[in-house]
Amino acid sequence: CSGSMNGMDHSKMNMEETNESAKASDAQTEKPAVLTGKEINLTTSVSNQEIAPGKTLPVWTFNNSVPGPQIRVKQGEMIKVNLKNQLPEPVTIHWHGVPVPNAMDGIPGVTQNAVQPGQSFTYEFKADVPGTYWYHSHQDSVNQLDRGLYGAFIVEPKEGTGVDRDYTLVLDEWMSSGEMSGMNMSGSNMSGMDHSTMNMGEDMSMYDLYTINGKSGSLVDQLPVKQGDKVRIRLINAGYLSHQIHLHGHEFKVIATDGQPINNPGILKDNVVSIAPGERYDIEFTANNPGRWLIEDHGDKAAVAGMKATIAYEGAPAGSDKANESEKLTAVDMSRYGQASRSNFTLDQKYTLQYTMNLNTEMKNGEMVYTINGKTFPETEPIKVKKGDTVKVRLVNNSKTEDHPMHLHGHFFQVLSKNGKPLGGSPIIKDTLNLQPGEEYVVAFEANNEGNWMFHCHDLHHASAGMVTELKYT
Ligand code: C2O
Ligand code: CU
Repeated sequence: CSGSMNGMDHSKMNMEETNESAKASDAQTEKPAVLTGKEINLTTSVSNQEIAPGKTLPVWTFNNSVPGPQIRVKQGEMIKVNLKNQLPEPVTIHWHGVPVPNAMDGIPGVTQNAVQPGQSFTYEFKADVPGTYWYHSHQDSVNQLDRGLYGAFIVEPKEGTGVDRDYTLVLDEWMSSGEMSGMNMSGSNMSGMDHSTMNMGEDMSMYDLYTINGKSGSLVDQLPVKQGDKVRIRLINAGYLSHQIHLHGHEFKVIATDGQPINNPGILKDNVVSIAPGERYDIEFTANNPGRWLIEDHGDKAAVAGMKATIAYEGAPAGSDKANESEKLTAVDMSRYGQASRSNFTLDQKYTLQYTMNLNTEMKNGEMVYTINGKTFPETEPIKVKKGDTVKVRLVNNSKTEDHPMHLHGHFFQVLSKNGKPLGGSPIIKDTLNLQPGEEYVVAFEANNEGNWMFHCHDLHHASAGMVTELKYT
């Protein structure tokens, strides 16, 4: 079948990140999928891509692919990314989760001017903290991400990753109608997220094609493994819906959240990893059950939407496992996990600052808006800090039906409690935390990276309709 041949072709380019293929892509064929080294060139342009079998959509790309090339750098390296914009609209690049200096954060009107059509900008920063991150435009981001302007950004630890296979799966959703939400591309507002023409009653069910690395269904790349391989899969959610990812046929561990390693991860089997917009989870398993196994979405529309990739053992006959993607499995409760590294706060220690962010959905002047403490950006109250402050933030989701995956730029935070219950030991560290309706979390961070930073919902429809504030150093 030509569909799966196509998938095979792409697997070399898009997904396999063994040393061999990293070298191969260094040799630069026309569409490199993994870029390594200290200097990286990214060019944005419009392109047509076959997203699902027979379904070609006009998309916006970095280096002619969706996702853009995966960037892989080594911990401690100073890297340089030369961005050239060949799109008809201005763009920027934000390094989601990477604690970069403020001037490199890619926020139009705050940390830099948007890069105009035909112009260039060079990002330069040190890749200090190993982990799974991603990059995306932050100009009119609700639309530009929707059109495909994103890619994976992996910082490998100095000592190496210690696995035989290291795959990255970037999740997203598309509309088969080819319509992108709120297609007026004129937004050039301060945060790059405010977008006055957005239809706030956005019906998320319009997203009817789910993709892994920009492909749906039979076009999704295969993940080759050999018996005995230690396999790491990095999951990145670049979309606006949560996905319930399940690996078939194997026990697995969740070894990192938002790039940060977990202590003593438990062994899981009939569980899904629930991954919200902007979040990352790394899972690891040993290839000890030859055959062909799916890693796929078990969410509501999963059966029809096509978010599934095949783990293909060397020599395993064609055909797939008997997946039941509508089976409801329990999501891993990440609050049970701990991270020793850099977890240094407790619930009742003394903090120099405390804030509360009440997140809500409200009607204002006949429009649905997403508020923080009753206000929409730029009227929201900024979090004002001085370098060295220890800051505790209570986040409460008062919306009746919507999740709010809250993302803080430039900092990691530690999750101290969930629904009033302290998380014991050394709670997890994240940069994007999903709050379901009615949930309340307390998080803490150290103000250690000066500048003006965004703190916003990563359902970018919500961000564009107000759910944004700033963390400001004074
Ligand atoms: Cu990926 Cu301001 O976000
Ligand atoms: Cu939200």
